[in-house]
Amino acid sequence: MDRAEKLGLTMALILLLVFFSLIVYAAKGLKIDIPTCITDVEPFKEGKLIKHADKRYELHLLARMWLFDFDKGATQIKIPAGSVVDIYVTSRDVVHGVHINDTNFNIMAIPGTVGYMRVKFKKPGTYHVVCHEFCGVGHHAMEGKIIVE
Ligand code: CUA
Repeated sequence: MDRAEKLGLTMALILLLVFFSLIVYAAKGLKIDIPTCITDVEPFKEGKLIKHADKRYELHLLARMWLFDFDKGATQIKIPAGSVVDIYVTSRDVVHGVHINDTNFNIMAIPGTVGYMRVKFKKPGTYHVVCHEFCGVGHHAMEGKIIVE
């Protein structure tokens, strides 16, 4: 191995370390939440909104043909402004895509798996929840609402 090759390899290794540290920094330092597919919540069959404390919620959002079940069949929920919601998503039938407008929440609802992301709803308003994965004849009408007041 000549000097140029060694230098090249060393530079490549240094760059790898730099990129890896940047990913760790983004996750820990900047607290950028990365959507995850977690396994400690079993796929559920019904939507449920659980209040843990003031402005602290856990939402089990069930996607199915062709509606979003937020809480025992309800297609919308109301929460106070400033609420932090741990949102778990699954599907009862086919693959759906869940996007909450005005947030960066965008997760696939896949039968048998549970997706997760935490969202803070700072501003009052109506946040439309839409399906962005074609799921059949009712796809275009598949939507729900999170009303923040
Ligand atoms: Cu559900 Cu499209």
